[in-house]
Amino acid sequence: MGYAIAFLCFPLKLFAISLLIMVFGFRIMIKVLRYELLKNPKLPPGPKPWPIIGARFDGHKGKVKKGMRTMKKYHHPIVEERMKQWSDASKAIEEDLLDVMISLKDHSNKPILTSKEIKALTIEIMLGGADNPSNAVECALAEMINQPNMLQLATEEVDRVVGKKRMVEESDVPNLNYVKACVREAFRLHPVVPFNPPHVSANDTMIGNYFIPKGSHVLLSRQGLGQNPKVWTEPHVFKPEQHFNNEKSMISLSDPDLKLISFGTGRRGCPAAILGTSMTVVLLARLLHAFTWTAPPNVSTINLAKSHNGGMLAQPLVLLPKPRLPPVLYYM
Ligand code: HEM
Repeated sequence: MGYAIAFLCFPLKLFAISLLIMVFGFRIMIKVLRYELLKNPKLPPGPKPWPIIGARFDGHKGKVKKGMRTMKKYHHPIVEERMKQWSDASKAIEEDLLDVMISLKDHSNKPILTSKEIKALTIEIMLGGADNPSNAVECALAEMINQPNMLQLATEEVDRVVGKKRMVEESDVPNLNYVKACVREAFRLHPVVPFNPPHVSANDTMIGNYFIPKGSHVLLSRQGLGQNPKVWTEPHVFKPEQHFNNEKSMISLSDPDLKLISFGTGRRGCPAAILGTSMTVVLLARLLHAFTWTAPPNVSTINLAKSHNGGMLAQPLVLLPKPRLPPVLYYM
């Protein structure tokens, strides 16, 4: 009997010991990994990685959630307030895109978009529409401060096209070729994000000599394309002239050939290429037209190093503006 119990207990003990080794071994492994990761000086600041399955590996999810909470805090009350205005009939005229989205109706006069969809669309539009133009203008201006001859060429162009009696208007955009070339260089060298939004291939396809099977997740590298040495003679130098084929060529910010990614191309390309062009070019042209920009006295060169988590400048651009137009224009 004693032998039988011992015989039965043995595998149980073995199982229990294996379990203990597995649990403790796993815990020790986690501790070692965590120690190795935490002491790694190359890790960016912010929440540290915690190598447990299901946990946040690099803290990005938390950052995105926090960013989305902040955006929602500002956006949602505006959307809700506007929807209320339409439902209690205190608003009846469409004045902007939000009004259009709220008042879209199907054939039976029912709203096409729900409040959730309008909120999601508003955030997507803000994400696409704010970061791209502001980052391009900031980087173009930073590069031009480091190469003052380009700043001068661009300012002279704006003065020639617009004069000094009015502000830059959207209708000036077709004539501001050098300014557009500067913006293109900013898109090429300083994309705000490293990759395009992911796309999934709907069918098997061949691109170049590569076979892309149906269902592949395709990410285009903005830097890989924009700084490809096979396409650009000086891929890492800010050189707006690279975009002129001949003296009179009309510059467009779109690049359907994907030598660089500005608005992408095809059915999933940016739906707001025209609006995005006007926003970015008018913003940069107005800044150049209205002010003389100089670096602060203790700064000899603008530091163009990128932040660790994206395409934005690690140190936001700080410049000194000096008005250069008649004072009355600044109050219009
Ligand atoms: C300089 C300004 C802008 C640039 C450089 C830009 C660039 C881009 C790029 C590269 C894409 C991805 C295209 C692709 O995946 O192939 C995109 C998508 C998109 N952009 Fe823009 N954009 C700009 C302005 C705007 C503005 C002002 C809006 C809205 C008012 C906007 C709305 C969108 C939307 C909704 C998408 C997603 C399209 C989809 O997924 O089908 N963008 N944009």
